[in-house]
Amino acid sequence: MKEKKIYVNTFGCQQNEADSETLLAIAESKGYKETDRAEDADLILFNTCAVREHAELKALSTTGALKHLKAKNPNLKIGLCGCMVQQEHRAEDIRTKYPYVDFVFGTNKISSFGDILDRVEHSKKRLFLVESYEKNPGKICEGLPVKRKYPYRAYVSVMYGCNNFCTYCVVPYVRGRERSREKESVLEEVRGLVQNGCKEITLLGQNVNSYGKDLAAPVSFSRLLEEICKIPGDFVVKFMTSHPKDATEELFDTIWKNPKCERHFHLPLQAGSNEILKKMNRKYSFEEYYALVQSLRRRMPEIAITTDIIVGFPGESEEDFQRTLNAMEKCRFDGIFSFNYSPRKGTPAAKLPDRIPDEVLKDRMARLLRLQESIQTEKNREMVGRTLRALCEGESKTDPRYLSARSDSGRLIHFPKPEAAPSAGDYVAVKITEARSIMLFGEVVL
Ligand code: 5AD
Ligand code: SF4
Repeated sequence: MKEKKIYVNTFGCQQNEADSETLLAIAESKGYKETDRAEDADLILFNTCAVREHAELKALSTTGALKHLKAKNPNLKIGLCGCMVQQEHRAEDIRTKYPYVDFVFGTNKISSFGDILDRVEHSKKRLFLVESYEKNPGKICEGLPVKRKYPYRAYVSVMYGCNNFCTYCVVPYVRGRERSREKESVLEEVRGLVQNGCKEITLLGQNVNSYGKDLAAPVSFSRLLEEICKIPGDFVVKFMTSHPKDATEELFDTIWKNPKCERHFHLPLQAGSNEILKKMNRKYSFEEYYALVQSLRRRMPEIAITTDIIVGFPGESEEDFQRTLNAMEKCRFDGIFSFNYSPRKGTPAAKLPDRIPDEVLKDRMARLLRLQESIQTEKNREMVGRTLRALCEGESKTDPRYLSARSDSGRLIHFPKPEAAPSAGDYVAVKITEARSIMLFGEVVL
């Protein structure tokens, strides 16, 4: 029998990456082999994102480009899944405007992907399996297989969904309410990974700080982290994402006391103006946020703190924006992910008046990036002369004479390939010799 091939394209965040690893493993159990060429595939699956319009438009235009493949190979099956199609209006767009898409399923159907594949293979009818979270709360299925992309680095989802309803965000609608995995099954997964030589484990959840509150026997995230750190082995634990309103001193202490915890905290600020934060329903003020930053740095002066910022939320005045810039100067983030506000259908913010004109948005974003670049260059310069422990990621993407590595605080470092070159997944000690805004250069010390 001819070997069946699957091509998966993942848009969006790490949660989608992790979901795709499960989808691929299920497909393999059904006899598919992964290919990285869409032209060679018998089945193409796009795992889509809905967080910003840009991500949706990208998924839709990439889907449009598949039309000619279907024309060449009528037996090709094309499917869309993930957050974008979990929205009824987008599923309808696919139904009416993309007739060559054979099947669509939402984020609460991932565990049924095996059955979906059987149905798709044996039916000529199009299959639309999109059901809201009110109808199908997306119960957690433990023990689903995972096809890990790297042997030394792994994602482990600890919870799904979000209860926060920030007014700009579509996630609570497309991923449902918070559901935590049982602590024991998370621990078992991590133990297995460490035994197989995994060096870097990233715990995933929309808001990991509220992990465990919904369990029959509630347990805190810092307790989970503590127990993970007790697992014997040489590895680092990372986690994403934390909501400042639930970041606790107990959690900071746990990180501080456990060298296995990465010296990096991603703490999305979103805006520096208290008025905008209120309109975003973030439930903290900038002053409260800044106290968390200080509290982390008091314990661990070397910790890297990164953040997310939205520019141009409806009604954001020049003074509000200035407060965001002031906040950045005060917090001196080690990295930021900045986004132009994107109205999302069905969210409260999408109904707000006073949208920010494109030229103003562009100007604010450019100013924000300029400021961050200068802060980051200055901060990176402070690293010159220090020796950092880093996990080797293999050859640099831009210059094969160099290797790349990530420090325990998440900093990207390039260094000339030494004679006895370390492999991807090895720890190295690198002395920093030069700093740029987004990366460091150094040399391996023995
Ligand atoms: N527009 C722009 N950025 C958004 N984010 C979430 N929703 C939107 C939106 N509608 C950003 C937030 C969040 C990150 C993952 O994406 O900054 O922290
Ligand atoms: Fe969206 Fe806010 Fe939930 Fe993050 S915490 S996923 S920004 S609603």
